Amino acid sequence: MDRYAVIGNPIGHTKSPLIHTAFAQGSGQSLEYIALEAPSDGFATAAAAFRDAGGRGMNVTAPFKLDAFAWATDLSERAQLAGAVNALKLEGGKVLADNFDGVGLVRDIEQNLGRLMRGKRVLLMGAGGAARGALHPFLAARPAQLVLVNRTVTKAEALAQEFAACGPIVGVGYGDLDHSAFDIVVNATSASLRGELPPVTTDVFAPSSLAYELAYGKGLTPFLRLAQGTGVRNLADGVGMLVEQAAEAFAWWRGVRPETAPMIAQLTVPLA
Ligand code: ATR
Repeated sequence: MDRYAVIGNPIGHTKSPLIHTAFAQGSGQSLEYIALEAPSDGFATAAAAFRDAGGRGMNVTAPFKLDAFAWATDLSERAQLAGAVNALKLEGGKVLADNFDGVGLVRDIEQNLGRLMRGKRVLLMGAGGAARGALHPFLAARPAQLVLVNRTVTKAEALAQEFAACGPIVGVGYGDLDHSAFDIVVNATSASLRGELPPVTTDVFAPSSLAYELAYGKGLTPFLRLAQGTGVRNLADGVGMLVEQAAEAFAWWRGVRPETAPMIAQLTVPLA
């Protein structure tokens, strides 16, 4: 039977085996999907052992997205732009690498949540790996403007400059936001993982805005609570992104696109 795995450290919380096993059942595919924990300095050894034991593909999660980038023999353009890898296909001696996080996020926002980004004002908070991975897919969706805001302003400015050729992007600090509301506000900082609130003011929200928290399974984070308290009606966490990026990887490996709605419904925890 074809074998796949998600590799990370820690990995105990992962939903990937559940998601991919359900995708396989739903699309009549026969495969095995396991969770692999590698030592934090042992990605390449663990990944090579899985390949040598017949592994066909892997999802890659923290802290190994850069290790996977370095281990790959063939990087997709998406992975190169993201500077990180979240999916590998193992083919003979080749390690094909891609990154579906950003496209998964855009699919969730546009198709599941019904918010086309084209012509809209979008605020992306954070300038780490998670934000970087969203930049090219966001700009490819043709927003009127993408504002990248970060606590360390120089990081936002540098990223905006790097992606300037892809579309209308500007990098700023929180104090530079000009009190006008955005159609879509995405929190790609790691603040929520520690129960913190980025220093964003409520005037970035209008009641019709979508407030999207990249973290999932954390309930109403300080960011979502701020949005809700400001009257924002549309709140989302990253569960849809998680399932959509998994579906992209599954389609890449198996040539069959699984249905995502039942899995999103199964994993969704009500926010309010
Ligand atoms: P990830 O891979 O999850 O993106 P990262 O690369 O460590 O993680 O980046 C974390 C991001 O969250 C950074 O943009 C960080 O801001 P700085 O660049 O100024 O450090 C942001 N971040 C983390 N905690 C934050 C907080 N309490 N308020 C605002 N931004 C925060």
